[in-house]
Amino acid sequence: MQKIKNICCIGAGYVGGPTMAVIAQKCPEINVTVVDINEKRIAAWNDENVENIPIYEPGLSDVVKESRGRNLFFSTDVDAAIKNAEMIFISVNTPTKTYGVGKGMAADLKWIELCARQIARVSITDKIVVEKSTLPVRTAEALKSILENTGNGVKFQILSNPEFLAEGTAVEDLMDPDRVLIGGDIDTEEGRTAIQTLVDVYAHWVNKENILTTNVWSSELSKLTANAFLAQRVSSINAMSELCEKTGADVNEVARAIGMDSRIGSKFLKSSVGFGGSCFQKDILNLVYIAKRFGLQEVADYWEQVIIMNDHQKRRFAMNIVESLFNTVSGKKIALLGWAFKKDTNDTRESAAIYVADYLLNEHAEVVVYDPKVKPEQIYADLDYLGTRTEEENRALLTVVNEPYKACKEAHAVAILTEWDEFKAYDWQHIYDAMLKPAFVFDGRNILDINDLKRIGFVAHGIGMTQ
Ligand code: UDX
Ligand code: UDX
Repeated sequence: MQKIKNICCIGAGYVGGPTMAVIAQKCPEINVTVVDINEKRIAAWNDENVENIPIYEPGLSDVVKESRGRNLFFSTDVDAAIKNAEMIFISVNTPTKTYGVGKGMAADLKWIELCARQIARVSITDKIVVEKSTLPVRTAEALKSILENTGNGVKFQILSNPEFLAEGTAVEDLMDPDRVLIGGDIDTEEGRTAIQTLVDVYAHWVNKENILTTNVWSSELSKLTANAFLAQRVSSINAMSELCEKTGADVNEVARAIGMDSRIGSKFLKSSVGFGGSCFQKDILNLVYIAKRFGLQEVADYWEQVIIMNDHQKRRFAMNIVESLFNTVSGKKIALLGWAFKKDTNDTRESAAIYVADYLLNEHAEVVVYDPKVKPEQIYADLDYLGTRTEEENRALLTVVNEPYKACKEAHAVAILTEWDEFKAYDWQHIYDAMLKPAFVFDGRNILDINDLKRIGFVAHGIGMTQ
């Protein structure tokens, strides 16, 4: 296989965009073209003002600025980019199926298959195809059979190279990854050469010891396993948070005490209103589906419990608001601070805030939302997508404001749903003064000092501590 001169990436989303921007920055001799069928998204990536790129990630605009137009390109001409490239990354979304067999559980591979067919149709030279999207184990097999049955003599090698970046720290994670995982056909000379070709791309900036190579199936399954383990830690600490509230223990103290055990480790032990994001729920559901398909009911049940616990945590948070506000929030103004699924991102997929808002709206609360990065149309789209009520009803019951103090003014309660740093810096005395009394705060991220709030006069609730 010749040296890579042109890389194409299909899918200019949260994974494809940042990953390719970093590859382009680190490999100036490689031309990287990111393509997407979404014209608006590509136009935003090409916006003259680099601050307008469609994805907010700390540090990303600087990386894009450095390479865009030099060796980083964004385009809607998918065919041309595929044709030119020796290596093609597939970074399209693989949402949970909303129809047919596996509905609500299996990953919808429609887009992946369309990409494979398009690659097969336009390729006239040999290609290495890299699965970047998270895929069910053994998807590479399906890709291979689609690619190889086109009959035009082009040879394809399929690699799995799952992305472990977390949103909000994408650039950091890409620049200095714990590991890069590359799975390929280790049993053939061509497979090993393809693996090495991708290793050489990453070796521009990642230590060779941190680049792991495995067979394709291990690589595909490792990605699902990593996300399942991470999500399981959050559900485990959240399960403990409910017990803490009943027993007088403080979940932060428990997390600290167990986290100092080097076998357990201190990361991912922050109790919260529930995990969100595009990956955890989708990947676990997918794992559950695969386990069931192989008849492994106990394995499926074990992992499904992680989701059940997370749904419970979101509902429990909303119900605690209702109960604390004297069992009714009907007609009461409740300010939600934060809508993104975590801080430092404008991504809202599966955010706990969506579900908390939905529960509160069911109770006829008057919900007002402020988030530093999420646009109002996204907030309404997220609610509409649930289908609980009509678009008109959602707009009548929920308001989005662009100023936090306005959100909290004359509110009965404030709920913190995303751990944005700026929330800690607010003048909470000022917020208290402008609220109706008794003034409640429900900190779904444990970012505020509950005792300070109580001193001001708030009735303050954190997660996993007695009031
Ligand atoms: C992530 C991960 O890549 C993936 O592992 C996970 O399975 C789903 O979410 P992400 O980059 O966050 O993907 O998704 P998204 O921001 O939705 O980007 C995907 C892009 O692919 C979209 O911009 C979409 O327009 C594009 N796309 C989709 C194509 O260009 N062609 C298609 O056929 C389908
Ligand atoms: C995750 C994985 O971390 C990443 O490796 C993978 O590539 C994609 O999925 P991401 O979803 O971007 O990344 O964010 P992550 O930081 O993992 O957080 C996921 C959710 O868990 C967020 O809603 C976050 O607030 C929540 N969380 C995380 C907690 O509630 N407590 C914690 O201790 C950590």
